[in-house]
Amino acid sequence: MGRFDNQTVLVTGGTGGMGSSHIQAYHREGANVVIGDVANDIGRDLASRLGERALFVHLDVTNEDDWADAVDATASRFGPISILVNNAGIQNPAAPIEHTERRTWERVFAVNITGQFLGIKAVAPSMRQGGGGVIVNIASTMAHGGTPFYAPYVASKWAVRGLTKSAALELGRDNIRVNSIHPGVVSTPLINEPTVAGQAPIIDFYSPEPFAIPRLAEPEEISKLLLFVTSADASFATGSEFVLDGGLMLGPALQPDLAVAAD
Ligand SMILES: NC(=O)c1ccc[n+]([C@@H]2O[C@H](COP(=O)([O-])OP(=O)(O)OC[C@H]3O[C@@H](n4cnc5c(N)ncnc54)[C@H](O)[C@@H]3O)[C@@H](O)[C@H]2O)c1
Repeated sequence: MGRFDNQTVLVTGGTGGMGSSHIQAYHREGANVVIGDVANDIGRDLASRLGERALFVHLDVTNEDDWADAVDATASRFGPISILVNNAGIQNPAAPIEHTERRTWERVFAVNITGQFLGIKAVAPSMRQGGGGVIVNIASTMAHGGTPFYAPYVASKWAVRGLTKSAALELGRDNIRVNSIHPGVVSTPLINEPTVAGQAPIIDFYSPEPFAIPRLAEPEEISKLLLFVTSADASFATGSEFVLDGGLMLGPALQPDLAVAAD
């Protein structure tokens, strides 16, 4: 028996580094999984490998019609949606604000925050119909401070916090919990591959070495927290921010050679 038997989970960006890990984790725990993404080939392939409890839907999170189609396709195959993971996200090419095009700013906001807003709007009626549900919006540790050259991404992730808390207040009485998860740096294509051709991937200029846990996270580590937050074990959590960052937000760990000897 799985922890998510008879539940239906829609993960946006479900073919990506973290999204595909989330999909597989829910599937292993017995859920029906819906992979929503713009990467059609990878999505169809993943769904066919997982079998009959998996469905791929072409879902551009910025497109309201795609959302309506995704909810309809899910309903006809599996019934109401129990869990929505608003995971799709993009990074902006590193650049100072003065050299960032307005369309870059708007595109990052469209995917990272408008996409989550449209998702809640489209899926809440389905959850209500099923008697309740859980929504998780994926934010970032970057939603807690500033990062030079990533203003569009940082600002969009701060916005996720406000959306999450407002939605939690609106939907709580409908038995729908809404929380955000804030990963630190996770080993995925977002970090390991260039955001645009000709620019170094983030991994080339980020080092986890100063932090308490001096490594990147693996996607599966985030999936484990996600499964907890969306399970009945977290039944009293709503409007909350779950940080999983290996101590990144604590700042650099003291180096042993600077410490005073105890004796
Ligand atoms: N990797 C990290 O270090 C890290 C840290 C904190 C937060 N996050 C967040 O976690 C989430 C997942 O990131 P990841 O690292 O797995 O990235 P990823 O690049 O591996 O995956 C992102 C996925 O989103 C999909 N996507 C992009 N635009 C889309 C759109 N318009 N509609 C639907 N799908 C779209 C992509 O096709 C891809 O499958 C993102 O919201 C990201 O901002 C990542």
